[in-house]
Amino acid sequence: MWIRRPDDLKSSEITDEKLYIDRRRFLLTAGIIGASGAGLLACDNEAQANGSADAAGGSAQDPQDKINTYEQITSYNNFYEFGTDKEDPKQNSAGFHPQPWTVRVEGLCRKPGDYHFEDLIKPHKVVDRTYRLRCVEAWSMVIPWQGISLAEMIKRFDPQPSAKFVAFTTVMRPDEMPGQRRPVLRWPYIEGLRMDEATNDLTLMATGLYGKPLPNQDGAPIRLIVPWKYGFKGIKSIVKIAFVDRQPETTWNIAAPDEYGFYANVNPEVDHPRWSQGSERRIGEFRRRRTLMFNGYADKVASMYAGMDLRKNY
Ligand code: MTE
Repeated sequence: MWIRRPDDLKSSEITDEKLYIDRRRFLLTAGIIGASGAGLLACDNEAQANGSADAAGGSAQDPQDKINTYEQITSYNNFYEFGTDKEDPKQNSAGFHPQPWTVRVEGLCRKPGDYHFEDLIKPHKVVDRTYRLRCVEAWSMVIPWQGISLAEMIKRFDPQPSAKFVAFTTVMRPDEMPGQRRPVLRWPYIEGLRMDEATNDLTLMATGLYGKPLPNQDGAPIRLIVPWKYGFKGIKSIVKIAFVDRQPETTWNIAAPDEYGFYANVNPEVDHPRWSQGSERRIGEFRRRRTLMFNGYADKVASMYAGMDLRKNY
């Protein structure tokens, strides 16, 4: 599917946030998208979450969850390639060009190659998934993503049985990404998942939010979303996907191995050395709320970690 950039859109075509929410509610009440149908938002800003799940089970929405506003989601970001302050990514990413875009697929799979963004997306159904994003810094948001199930995408690359992990790499463009001109982190940003995590129904390759293409500051044109893990696993602006047989290195684990592990599952019982993980502040609210095990998605993911010591495998 060809996804147009905001520059290609006439202003009359851009869905504003209220319209987006109203349209979802209309489709819902009109029965055009069913309460358990694929692609359903599990909650809605004003009607609030009703606890129902989308097809993949984007469930476990706290009944109090409200979707954060487009403004909040696009102006309070972590994207160190554009600076380390929360406002930097929005301010410094206007000169970034997410089109044309190519993703290299390599390693232990039978369909490696350079996939143009449009070809990567085209064969797949774009689904709506509203997920909580829980940052290790103890803030959180609720974000209405659009994207492709990573499990679906992976099937197409036909991984070999020896592929046990998937490694992801962010684009390296110091000319367009001022943060990459300083050694704040080891560039490019890299992340990884175990194969069962990558192919879990919840795992998404996001290409949009609020019905619009991903803004640069949120990881245009394609990023990873793993809702039961801390936000740093959600690597942005991906240019490489590699199938490997060993646990790949990850940026934050390289930067501070005692603070950031490979698994990074949201776990209120294991504190980060600098932030208690027992509670969090939802952006836009003052009160703190309790952090849920696996960010509230335990029913869909806990079995993958049965028997593992989650204190050691943080
Ligand atoms: N991906 C890249 N390439 N660079 C980054 O600095 N930050 C991570 C993650 N993905 C980051 C990244 C962190 S720490 C978080 S919390 C989330 O992106 C934030 O996503 P958001 O800005 O869309 O909320």
